[in-house]
Amino acid sequence: MPDTQLAAAVATDSPTGGRILMCAPDHFEVSYAINPWMRPDRWKEEGGVLGARSTSGWERLAATLRGLGVELEFAVPHAGLPDMVFTANAAVVLDGKALVATFRHPQRQGETAVFRRTFDALKERGLLAGVHDMPEGVVLEGAGDCVWDPVRRTFWLGYGQRSDQAAAAVVRDLFGVEVEALQLVDPRFYHMDTCLCPLNGGEVLYYPGAFSAEGNARIRERFGAQNLIVAPEPDACTLAVNAVNIGRDIVLATASPALRGMLTERGYTVHETPISDFGLSGGSAFCLILKLDRSSK
Ligand code: ARG
Repeated sequence: MPDTQLAAAVATDSPTGGRILMCAPDHFEVSYAINPWMRPDRWKEEGGVLGARSTSGWERLAATLRGLGVELEFAVPHAGLPDMVFTANAAVVLDGKALVATFRHPQRQGETAVFRRTFDALKERGLLAGVHDMPEGVVLEGAGDCVWDPVRRTFWLGYGQRSDQAAAAVVRDLFGVEVEALQLVDPRFYHMDTCLCPLNGGEVLYYPGAFSAEGNARIRERFGAQNLIVAPEPDACTLAVNAVNIGRDIVLATASPALRGMLTERGYTVHETPISDFGLSGGSAFCLILKLDRSSK
């Protein structure tokens, strides 16, 4: 079936809001800088206020998701691993299989073993069928760099900043689905989920400046011109593309009137949540969650 026809079909991830993994920001802080958004100096000055505010924002995000019918699971936060709150980076999950992430930077490498235990526990409870490891020496920072397109049933994998291009073959082999690997060329958009968000109606919310000419051509080709929703640069820079789409609802930090208009025009309801403080670590809504019950069927 040509992509344009596929895109016309409305897909939902699951009949309810689905099951999502989060991790409370108990140990969240900005104590190192591994992306251009991270400001340890600012955190040092205002960490007390920011810490309390980010926790209440995270709770509001959880409440918003529950309001949309989502069932939440929680990873146990770990002292010394402040970025564990970004569970999108914990694994790639599809069809009951979790492919546990590996990390580029030493500051996050301890998360692999900790999240491995989280997924083993989910498997024990029957919520996953299998837990898989990346081959030695290949980096893939979970769903943050491997974004599921529920309409084309394709993973969009970002490489060149955090994850390795070689991860594409690993994902293809394990999940048996198509993988489109695109190079990320702007350090501000260091994970695929910061610049590309395929929506349930077949559209894509994205920021073209994050991709090479070749990548942009591929996006236009696969989604089709009618499905492209280009995020204005100010929205891209508040990480609005890092959005969570559940059915026809879109949860994000903030959207400009222009962006909100583009999404509502397409029939989506936009929910703003007070999670902008996670932007000081380079993260937003999509980074803070991981869908556990995605299906390729
Ligand atoms: N501070 C984290 C890092 O740089 C933020 C991760 C955000 N997660 C994401 N899926 N984009 O690794």
